[in-house]
Amino acid sequence: MQINLKGKKAFIAGIGDDQGYGWAIAKALAEAGAEIIIGTWTPLLKIFTNSWAQGKFDASRQLSNGKMMEILKVYPLDASFDKPEDVPEEIRNNKRYLDAAGYTVSEVAAAVAKDFGKIDILVHALANGPEVKKPLLETSRAGYLAALSSSSYSFVSLVAHFGPHLNAGGSALSLSYIASERVIPGYGGGMSSAKAALESDTRTLAWEAGRKWAIRINTISAGPLRSRAARAIGFIDSMIEYSRANAPLVKEMTAEEVGQSSVFLLSPLASAITGVTLYVDNGMHAMGLAVDSPALHVQECTTCST
Ligand SMILES: NC(=O)c1ccc[n+]([C@@H]2O[C@H](COP(=O)([O-])OP(=O)(O)OC[C@H]3O[C@@H](n4cnc5c(N)ncnc54)[C@H](O)[C@@H]3O)[C@@H](O)[C@H]2O)c1
Repeated sequence: MQINLKGKKAFIAGIGDDQGYGWAIAKALAEAGAEIIIGTWTPLLKIFTNSWAQGKFDASRQLSNGKMMEILKVYPLDASFDKPEDVPEEIRNNKRYLDAAGYTVSEVAAAVAKDFGKIDILVHALANGPEVKKPLLETSRAGYLAALSSSSYSFVSLVAHFGPHLNAGGSALSLSYIASERVIPGYGGGMSSAKAALESDTRTLAWEAGRKWAIRINTISAGPLRSRAARAIGFIDSMIEYSRANAPLVKEMTAEEVGQSSVFLLSPLASAITGVTLYVDNGMHAMGLAVDSPALHVQECTTCST
């Protein structure tokens, strides 16, 4: 059985380079035949389009059939804002925003609908927590609310604005992280709260958008990946190492694996799956014990390590 998304159009919000989950999902969707439209954070738009034009992503654009992944159009997007009047003066006049227009969620959704008509797939691959390095106890109200605004409400807003432009049977997906339900020290600034909200909203949106537009809403709780955002948090290499030492599957999880699972969830093969948080993390979520802990004094465990 093959997944064939020929003739389907996908909008992926949150691609700024070829290192993150958004890119991997776009590529997997392109492998399945979907046409790709993207939203890139407004301050990164120029660097992304210049890098694309200069061929910096060419190696990553290679598909298995020898062709290159194409992008129908790149829109500037700041998913922290729903409509033009929400954009504060200092952002509007910021030099990285000055030349851009139409980057709020409602404007991007309307522009995509005008340019391409109805689409089939919506992906939210973005997050931002300005105080992510601070423990929750030291997080300011503004920092906490900013994390929720950029990382959780942005998904609600994207579904609300794109919903009317998604074909019945269409599907939306976001990316979560295990810090929503288990303590991950270092993932602060309200980002753990933001992921908990994202997962809860996945269920409520599944109900509301399912009844309203007959579309499906899911999220993937992904394992650690050395993306630009994760590198900025600062301990991603330790998280990858920790997972390798303690997860049921002893291998580094790749962005491609998240891409493949995303394609499944976004395809008609998953037509009865909605409101789900799917773990794509080598099974790490199932563990209640760090088997590499020196505190354990585990005697001989042939299945714990290689
Ligand atoms: N990397 C990991 O270990 C990991 C693990 C689990 C979940 N995730 C989630 O995967 C998603 C993608 O992140 P990634 O790790 O691939 O990093 P990434 O840096 O590739 O993607 C994050 C993107 O969000 C964009 N962005 C930030 N604020 C924005 C805004 N207001 N409007 C529009 N775009 C904005 C950034 O420009 C960037 O392109 C995020 O939701 C992240 O929390 C990542």
